[in-house]
Amino acid sequence: MTAATSTLEVIPLTAHIGAEMRGLDMSQPLSDADIAAINQAFLDHSVIVFRGQKLSQEDLLRVTSYFGPIGHMRRPPKYFPPGFDKILPNIMLISNIRENGEPIGALPDGEMMFHHDMIHSANPDAATMLYSVEIPSHGGDTLFASGYAAWDTLDPALRAKVDGKRAKHFYNYGSVQKGDGKGTEAFGESSHPFVRTHDQSGRKALYVNRLMTVGIEGMPDEEAAPILEAIFDHMEKPEFVYAHKWQVGDVLLWDNRCSSHARTDFPSTERRLMLRTTVECDKPPF
Ligand code: SIN
Repeated sequence: MTAATSTLEVIPLTAHIGAEMRGLDMSQPLSDADIAAINQAFLDHSVIVFRGQKLSQEDLLRVTSYFGPIGHMRRPPKYFPPGFDKILPNIMLISNIRENGEPIGALPDGEMMFHHDMIHSANPDAATMLYSVEIPSHGGDTLFASGYAAWDTLDPALRAKVDGKRAKHFYNYGSVQKGDGKGTEAFGESSHPFVRTHDQSGRKALYVNRLMTVGIEGMPDEEAAPILEAIFDHMEKPEFVYAHKWQVGDVLLWDNRCSSHARTDFPSTERRLMLRTTVECDKPPF
């Protein structure tokens, strides 16, 4: 056990979600006390931001491991961004940079509706980390909505309709539209509790989103659609959202168990490059 060496400050960014962590240089191994403190801040605020970091890929994996087992990803890019001669296993590129007309990373272009990462799979990752390397001059902000605050304030009549139910999720990797049949054949589908109890905080959060949730188990679609629409509108209210404006060198970690996120549009003529890692959920609640 090493002693705390930092003067870590935790600065909340909104009333419900997001906190900036100041006073830590993440390129250096952290003390056990600092690791415990950033984990507590992560549980308390669902999204944590470290500004002005300069990390190698090894550093990024080490920082990710402070929060739990690193999620397995092996999608080596066909083309590497300038300045990179390799991308380590379990690091994914999010980028619109193109080589020979092909994006070098995933989720390349423009706006994305609110979603929880991998909710369309059986055991979605607990958390996702992004480290910004190149950003456009404007746009490409990432918005985070608190599923806790949305559940805590949901109209009791709507609560009664969804508590204890399971929601159905679908994602077509070839398109950002719900099941529109375009794009690639690849898709994922799953069902999970509509209201998720966080395995560490014990709090309840709405666990549905506009991009991927397509229905409610045991309920006809025409009955479910207006309920889902009203709940998405409630979840995305500005008072529950932290909007992150990226700077180069930001490291941001979000909790997929209790928050959803979206991305604003950005110029297709400007480059955006992020390195992405994930933390596995070691207690699948479903
Ligand atoms: C994501 O939705 O996982 C990507 C967010 C971003 O590119 O800002």
